[in-house]
This record gives sequence, C-alpha cells and structure tokens, in this order.
Amino acid sequence: MRIPLVDLKAQYLSIREEIDAAITGVLTSTTFIGGPFVKSFEKAFAELCNVKHCVGVANGTDALFISLKALGIGNGDEVVTAANSFIATSEAITMAGAKVVFVDINPSTYNIDVNGVEEVITERTKAIIPVHLYGQPADMDPILDLAERYNLRVIEDAAQAHGAVYRGRKVGTLGDMACFSFYPGKNLGAYGDGGAIVTNDDEFARKARMLGNHGRVGKYDHEIEGVNSRLDALQAAILETKLRHLPYWNERRRENAHAYNQHLKDTDVITPVEIQNVRAVYHLYVVRVKRGLRTKIRDHLESNGITTGIHYPTALPNLKAYAYLQWNENDFPEATRASREILSLPMFPELGESQIKYVADTIKELGI
Ligand SMILES: Cc1ncc(COP(=O)(O)O)c(C=O)c1O
Repeated sequence: MRIPLVDLKAQYLSIREEIDAAITGVLTSTTFIGGPFVKSFEKAFAELCNVKHCVGVANGTDALFISLKALGIGNGDEVVTAANSFIATSEAITMAGAKVVFVDINPSTYNIDVNGVEEVITERTKAIIPVHLYGQPADMDPILDLAERYNLRVIEDAAQAHGAVYRGRKVGTLGDMACFSFYPGKNLGAYGDGGAIVTNDDEFARKARMLGNHGRVGKYDHEIEGVNSRLDALQAAILETKLRHLPYWNERRRENAHAYNQHLKDTDVITPVEIQNVRAVYHLYVVRVKRGLRTKIRDHLESNGITTGIHYPTALPNLKAYAYLQWNENDFPEATRASREILSLPMFPELGESQIKYVADTIKELGI
C-alpha cells in the first residue's frame, strides 16, 4: 500500500466540479486582482474565524510581516516567539527590522513554553508571536495575561490551525491580529500561495490592507510605502470553495488522529497530547520516538510505501540562519531534543482507517 504524507490530488478529485466551476468563474470575469472574489472570500473567512476583518495577502509569511508593521513594530524592538516552528515565523520578525527572541517549547505539546516567556521580556519587547503548531492552539491565556501586564501585542501564527478552538474561542480571535497561510498542504490550502490576516481592530485592519497594497488609500494615492502582497482572485475563489468543506475536513483529521492514538496505544510511540479544552485540527500528526529509533522507523515505513516527515529537523535557534544570535543547543534543550525525536505520520482528511492501521501495524513490525 502506498500512503503519502499528504494527498492533495485525492482532495481535488473529491470536489473537482466545484473547483473547476470556481476557476472558470474567475477566468470569465477577468477580475484577477482584488474585486468580488477576494471580497467574498475575505467575508467568508472572517465569519469562519468569528472576527470582524479579514485581509487577504500573498502568503502567510507576508501576513506576519505586515501584521508586525501594522502594529508599528520594527527597528530596535524585540519580538518573542517559539523555538520550534517553520522559519517563516522568525523570518518575518527580522524582515520587519526587529530582533527575534526565542523561547523553548513545552515537550508534550511542542508549542511555546509559557513559563519561559516572562524571563525574556525586556524594555524593548513589543510583541509575542505564539504559534499554534501542528494545528494545536498554544496555551494562550497565560500569554495574554503577560501581554496585558507588560503592554505587549500578540500576533497569533495560525498558519497551521485554521478552525482550531482554544477554550471556546476560535484561533484568530485571541490576539491583536492573527495570521494564516493557505500554502497548498495547509488545512485550508490554495492552489498556489496565499495568506490572510484577521483582526477585530478597525485600525489594524486598515493599516494591514494599506501595507499589503503599496500603502495605497486610493488609485495612485499612497499614504505610505507598503509592499505588493495581495491574495489573487483565482486563489480566493478556490479558497472560498474549499472553505465550505473545511469543518468536515477538520473533523476527519481529528477522527484520524484518534484512530492513530488507538492503534498506537500499546507501543512505545508517544502520540500527540491535546491540552484541556482545546480543539486541535491536526494539520500534522506528530509522534515522538526514542532518538535512535526514528531513522529505523522512517526507513521501515518508507520501504513499505509510507511517507513520513519531520517538522522540523532543526530547532529554529540551531539553524545556521540564526548563528549570529550566538545561542547554543543547551539554551533550548526541549526544542533541540524534540527535533531529534519527532516524526510526522501521514495525515490528511481523505486518509482512511485501514491506511492508519497499516501504518501502525508496520511500525509494530519493528517490535516497538
Ligand atoms: C507555522 C508557520 N508559520 C508561517 C508559515 C508561512 O506561510 P507561507 O508559506 O504561506 O508563507 C507557515 C507555512 O509555511 C507555517 O507553517
């Protein structure tokens, strides 16, 4: 049996007619930038997130960069984020001109260790970017308390968590602003790049929209210099079509995660932990195994047709890109240890119970 890590083709085939019609609608209207398709998607996505404003942008990295700029964060400022994420999170901080300050992770959720945040706050700290990694919301209440106490902004990196819920509140409604990626493999994925910023604040939304569209307030009327970072109409129409399926797809991901948990329960594989009162949406299903075992398991799965991934093989502070910050692996022991032990098993809504059982049985063949 061949099981990919993600199967975008299976998803396309399941909604092909709707998608093709949406694409044709844009092609025949020839409104490719801005216009009704983008507006309509932004409205629908804001409703899904339960927020007032959604601003479509070109990708999730720009969403983070533009949010930081909209909040006035830049040179001389520090922004705190998690040591385990995709580089886009920290890259956006640097792009905005601020300094990246990493905090180690909680070893069971892989999200930012909320107990490590306060000690890195200085007079220059302006914001915290918690990441809802793998689809599980970061523990936001302690982060929001700290932000309030120290007068910091909070930008949620929700690139992997469309539709996730933290203590009854949708991700995207928790911080000052929240950023989503619509990279094709995401829970809500475009057929190209795309991203969005959501917020309940009118002024932040106005600034973000202006910054993402050359700082313009009207045709050839530019209040400031911005960037060219717009969600295009083709992607918007595709995303709005897919959005209708997102609640079901997220539910399927959760069912698949629970099926994996069951099939792996009598093994030494450590399955994901959901914190209390959270509805994770399993963008990834990440297990943990003893350091020496990971390659053995990966190779055995691969030779049986099962593709796995590692998210991420190097904790952010240990990347060459951050050597200039002069941290070492001992500064982030949990993120470093996790990067050597985590393994992402196939996860997508179309995955079936028999495939999940096959993955688990193949792991069990190793006597683990
Ligand atoms: C946690 C996280 N943040 C930010 C991004 C950046 O999104 P994009 O690839 O759309 O720029 C991604 C996705 O790639 C991500 O996984």
